[in-house]
Amino acid sequence: MRRPDGRSAGRTSRAIEPGAPRRESSSAPTAADVLAAILPKGIPDPLWRTAWSLRRRAGLSPTQDVFRELRRRGVPTGDVAAVEVFAGNGFCHTLDYLASVKSLEAWELSPAHEADLRHNLPGATIRITDSFEEINRTVRRFGIVVVDNTITTFGPGYVEHFDLFPDLFRIAENPCVLLLNVCPKVPAALRDDARRMSRRAAFYGTPRPHDVPIDRMVQTYATLMFDHGFLIDWSFARRRAYRTGIYYLVMRMSRPAASVTSDS
Ligand SMILES: C[S@@+](CC[C@H](N)C(=O)[O-])C[C@H]1O[C@@H](n2cnc3c(N)ncnc32)[C@H](O)[C@@H]1O
Repeated sequence: MRRPDGRSAGRTSRAIEPGAPRRESSSAPTAADVLAAILPKGIPDPLWRTAWSLRRRAGLSPTQDVFRELRRRGVPTGDVAAVEVFAGNGFCHTLDYLASVKSLEAWELSPAHEADLRHNLPGATIRITDSFEEINRTVRRFGIVVVDNTITTFGPGYVEHFDLFPDLFRIAENPCVLLLNVCPKVPAALRDDARRMSRRAAFYGTPRPHDVPIDRMVQTYATLMFDHGFLIDWSFARRRAYRTGIYYLVMRMSRPAASVTSDS
């Protein structure tokens, strides 16, 4: 049995043969990219919020584009429970898809964001919690897991979303769409974070941690999925921010039929 990385599976307990995942990555600028690119750096907060709200109202945010693409691919987002693992104040992108999902849980560490979260995300379940603990505590499973991670080292030394693996599989419904913040090319100004660079090298298995093509990333996640009883069905990427090099990487995974038991 071969894992998606080509190595034989050492510790998987299921006889699963991974299918070839469909991959697609889009780097063509969208209208939202153009708007983001023409806004000057460091614009005052009220102006930024107004621009963000206008973009949202026009349906032009990358997040809205991702949810349109999910529906185009047949994901019934309106019937699916979602979780936002790092919710912040909810304004930046969670609000973009709140109305597109059946229900939303928003997890955020900082109590300072609680009032804003309740205001920005009406109807959502807000949990002021440490997501690294919540992911092991919750009994809920979600069909859409959104990880809007800080793209640097943060907290006690976490890097990007790497420390959420493999626990993240615990909260995944079958099937599950995983939406991650990824950074294929780390901007030169951010490469002196040695911890981040060495974690990227180890996580993606590459000597070039500043430059990891999205296809290479998908292989890494597909292998992790395989090792935890899921197969990747398809993936796509959408550019999210020009200046910081961030993309959304969206992957759907499901458990192969033979591995689904009554209690899984
Ligand atoms: C990039 S921001 C999220 C932005 C947000 N998704 C939005 O739509 O506005 C990352 C957030 O993760 C939170 N965070 C950091 N460590 C955390 C942890 N251990 N558990 C939960 N949230 C955490 C930070 O407080 C910060 O608000």
